[in-house]
Amino acid sequence: MNIEKTIGKLALVLSLLVFGLSIFFILVSLMNFYPEFLSDNNREVSFIENKTIEKHLPSGRKGKEIKYGYLLISQSPGYMGSQTSSEDLRYTGNNLSCTSCHLDNGTKPGAASWVGVTKRYPKFRGRENKVSTLEDRVNGCMERSMDGKPLPKDSPQMEAIISYMEWLSEGATEQIVQKHAGFTNIEIPSFRADTLIGETIYEKECALCHGSDGEGIKIDNKNKVYQYPPLWGYDTYNNGAGMHRVLTAAAFIKGNMPFGQATVEKPKLSDEEAIHVAAYINKFKRPIKSNSQKDFPDRKLKPISTPYGPWEDEFDSIQHKYGPFKPIADYYYQQYGLKKKK
Ligand code: HEC
Ligand code: HEC
Repeated sequence: MNIEKTIGKLALVLSLLVFGLSIFFILVSLMNFYPEFLSDNNREVSFIENKTIEKHLPSGRKGKEIKYGYLLISQSPGYMGSQTSSEDLRYTGNNLSCTSCHLDNGTKPGAASWVGVTKRYPKFRGRENKVSTLEDRVNGCMERSMDGKPLPKDSPQMEAIISYMEWLSEGATEQIVQKHAGFTNIEIPSFRADTLIGETIYEKECALCHGSDGEGIKIDNKNKVYQYPPLWGYDTYNNGAGMHRVLTAAAFIKGNMPFGQATVEKPKLSDEEAIHVAAYINKFKRPIKSNSQKDFPDRKLKPISTPYGPWEDEFDSIQHKYGPFKPIADYYYQQYGLKKKK
């Protein structure tokens, strides 16, 4: 009798324990797959400036995905380029990393930072003449800046890159989003960029790191390939990239180069110097983007310093490449009321 009772009690305790344990494991795995589970969805996530993978990575599956995104963008040759183990993983065509231009792992204001970028998309873009998603925008850089092919939208690579950008953007206020967007401003010049002056500036301020033939300097790390990335030749951005437009390159250079010296608040080069040196680095041969004539189906929306046609105006290709840009900007304002900044 007593023994039966005890066994009965034991069985009850055991099944309660098993039940409790299963609930525990279900909760743990839910938290692992959906970290937001159990947390208050309306909770304000406070913004963290200068997030780093070492210090701020969340745990669980989400953390792993963010880390993968970080590796893809900061060591692109190793994770989606020439150094990958199989052809199927190769998407980028040159040996740059995304962070060759999106400096400090995409967190430097004035270097087209990704802090807050998830709040800027979807948005209308003239290059495609439609509303673009953030995935479309990433692929814009894949096909031009990285001279590669687009990542499928539902691929683990694309999802990881977007997760990384979402993580950087968490809790960013409108003010922070503004602060991080795009590049610094450049005054649209009334003079033609002079590649001879540009060459002198290049030799003095840039060649030390980027090489006198723009070839960059390699590093002994196969995932990264370059310590200092190439600026022209066949292992860098193609002619369809934003950096190939003199005005865009000048704005990037003014706020960021020479590396370690220039910031948006304290540029080293003047607007004029940045324009001459941007023209110099973009005068050399580089990979060619196929189908670039299909860019900007509405030609009016083409940035004025896009060096390849067709254009909605009569200015020649030399003027579109080297300026003077002011007359082109004035033309679009007078004809179409469009205020173009690049
Ligand atoms: C050669 C330089 C370069 C490289 C390399 C590069 N980009 Fe870009 N990226 C740009 C430029 C230029 C812009 C446009 C910035 C502007 O005009 O505001 C841009 C814009 C973007 C934007 C939109 C930013 C915004 O605020 O609207 C995203 C997202 C982006 N790039 C992602 C990537 C990713 C991901 C990679 C790697 C696969 C990459 N980029 C590689 C130069 C580069
Ligand atoms: C101290 C070394 C150093 C100097 C000097 C320097 N850069 Fe850079 N530059 C870098 C580094 C490093 C990066 C990429 C950042 C990274 O990979 O973390 C870069 C990136 C770039 C990029 C975008 C990536 C690419 O391959 O196109 C351009 C354009 C550029 N630099 C132009 C210039 C110009 C123009 C000058 C001179 C005014 C200059 N740099 C001076 C180190 C330097």
